[in-house]
Amino acid sequence: MTMIEKKPHILFLDRRSGVPLYCQIQERLLAQIQSGEFKPGQPLPSIQQIASSMGVSYMTVRQAMRALNDSGVLDTRQGIGTFVSGIKMERDFRQVLSFTEETCARGSKPSSKVLSFDIQSPTPKVQKALRLKDKDLVYNLCRVRYGDKVPMGIEYSSLPVQLFPGLIEDFNPEGSLYIELDRKYGVQLMVTDEVIEVGIATAEEARLLEIAPQSPVFLFTRISYIENGIPVEHAKSVYSGERYKIINRLMRTKH
Ligand code: GLP
Repeated sequence: MTMIEKKPHILFLDRRSGVPLYCQIQERLLAQIQSGEFKPGQPLPSIQQIASSMGVSYMTVRQAMRALNDSGVLDTRQGIGTFVSGIKMERDFRQVLSFTEETCARGSKPSSKVLSFDIQSPTPKVQKALRLKDKDLVYNLCRVRYGDKVPMGIEYSSLPVQLFPGLIEDFNPEGSLYIELDRKYGVQLMVTDEVIEVGIATAEEARLLEIAPQSPVFLFTRISYIENGIPVEHAKSVYSGERYKIINRLMRTKH
């Protein structure tokens, strides 16, 4: 029997958990792939079949599958179907993924603790990175990000106030920032310039990340842009070196 003929697994979603439905769908699909229920090379049930078996919309399943496609777990062939790619799950790709998407794609449940969310004048570095004028203000959002309740990193994001009016009133910063930017402002972050350095956790960072003082950490500085090249987010993050790894896929261009 092929996977297409097989009745899709009945999967219960927890609509009160605060975890986006598409994340829960990703988790369950990953679990089915990891358990061997869906095998490499075999087609998955159609988006429509999965959507009706879970009682969610077509778009929600499509969003769940998009992140699994992006991370190489699934391989969608136009007009043919979606297959389990057989690429090892540990293998990752340097995509512009939100913390929520990345954590879901690893099979973990994302959550956040908000340390601060306010409007301030940018630092000179942030002002330059976001190409702001004097007197332009930024939202500053600082959060500890967790995967399965384990602290992974601390993120300090700055976004221009003028591009996102009303963000501080409407956005629940425990949720996904990128989903909110897309939903409310139709903004998708397409390109990120990233600098990665290695550092030592300060006493406060070690406390928040629940690691030993002076443990090694990754320091990320990212500037993210929308399609037309306008910078919309400056983010500095401190990630635990013990819990986080960076895996790159590099390509050599043909001469
Ligand atoms: C990544 C980026 C951050 C960004 C975050 C948004 O972690 N490095 O710069 O703020 O994703 O994640 P979410 O949409 O889960 O809030």
